[in-house]
Amino acid sequence: MNFYDSEKMSDLLMNHGYVATDIQEDADLIIVNTCHIREKASEKLFSDLGRIKKIKDKKRLTVAVTGCVAQAEGEQISVRAPFVDLISGPQSYHRLPEMLRKISNGKNISPLLEFMPNEKFDNLEFGKNKKGPTSFVSIQEGCDKFCTFCVVPYTRGAEFSRSISEIIDEVSNLTDHGVCEVTLLGQNVNSWHGVDKKGKERGLAYLINEISYIKKIKRIRYTTSHPLDMDEELILAHKNINKLMPYLHLPVQSGSDSILKAMNRKHTAKDYIKIIDKIRKINPEIALSGDFIVGFPGETDKDFNDTIRLVKEVQYAQSYSFKYSERPGTPASVLDFQVPESKKRVRLKKLQEILFEQQEKYNFSFLGKELEVLIEKTGGRDDQIMGRSQYMQSVYMDKNLGKIGEIKTVKISHAGKNSLKV
Ligand code: 5AD
Ligand code: SF4
Repeated sequence: MNFYDSEKMSDLLMNHGYVATDIQEDADLIIVNTCHIREKASEKLFSDLGRIKKIKDKKRLTVAVTGCVAQAEGEQISVRAPFVDLISGPQSYHRLPEMLRKISNGKNISPLLEFMPNEKFDNLEFGKNKKGPTSFVSIQEGCDKFCTFCVVPYTRGAEFSRSISEIIDEVSNLTDHGVCEVTLLGQNVNSWHGVDKKGKERGLAYLINEISYIKKIKRIRYTTSHPLDMDEELILAHKNINKLMPYLHLPVQSGSDSILKAMNRKHTAKDYIKIIDKIRKINPEIALSGDFIVGFPGETDKDFNDTIRLVKEVQYAQSYSFKYSERPGTPASVLDFQVPESKKRVRLKKLQEILFEQQEKYNFSFLGKELEVLIEKTGGRDDQIMGRSQYMQSVYMDKNLGKIGEIKTVKISHAGKNSLKV
């Protein structure tokens, strides 16, 4: 989501005469777009700002901090880093050009922290500066689920779904700029809902189907989903809509029912497994991915072993796993029985050993087999190109085998944990 937001800010500013640079020292404006989801991510801001201050000491430079740390800690940023000119939460960055104009006229700007996703999307332009065949498209923002460990409902606000016509327009627009794969984005993407032309309430499966009618779109993905919103129609879409890729990122967080309850996930481990079974029955080739948290307050060895058991049962193709990180203002941060850091570390290591082994096994199962790869960009080496299989694996190949934007059927000759080679 932050990657998408940064792209949109860059698009917006390019329309106001700005040019992007990779060299910080050359910049007249530096925007630090921040993430607040875990402590490590938000800590980065102040070390980045320290470096930026040194540049600002030497030249005229405007500094903006945007995103969820700005939303959650706007006031502290003004105090700790008074040289920051502009602070904007994730729902206000469409006002950047107007604010930057005021700053250049010598005005002081107070932090922009309103929640107005509607206005934001109405004021952004899409696709103009798009490079490459894949793109994110934000279709939903915010979250009403209130998992007790998570800051998103506070930093991104309540759930908001963009309208069908707006999304279709954005996707069509992107295809005019060479995009053939879209990943529909939302903090809780499968809670997306909208109204069709006849006034009927629709869910994500309908939207995916509508997008699949856009001829130049060859591949559709969506992320991130919540198990509670994984309805029958969406599960069936994985059989009925050819352009929907056989990959599902469905976080479970924990395999222990008592921890799931304390997390306010509103589902049990069994409920999750039932969804996985259903989706595998509908489409046996689907690649599964998940998010996991170890060391949630009160997590015992037994709870942790329940997570290990669930992971062994599901067999993931990919995963994201984290140590629980106490986030200010969330209900879990004030719970007793916080798990010591050393224990979290040991548990994460053990969990990741199993998850990474599964990922490697999954990738190795494609040795000697054919995959369909959408070529996205040049690879790490000059003579290489890189793309993604239908199952989201990174695949590297000789540059003579295809051009960026093409979908090629290739035979896999090398496999590793993180990538495949032709
Ligand atoms: N601590 C650790 N991981 C977290 N996540 C969200 N909040 C926290 C937290 N406080 C993880 C969850 C979520 C992913 C985006 O980040 O696994 O699915
Ligand atoms: Fe956070 Fe996802 Fe839970 Fe929403 S559903 S509160 S975004 S972890």
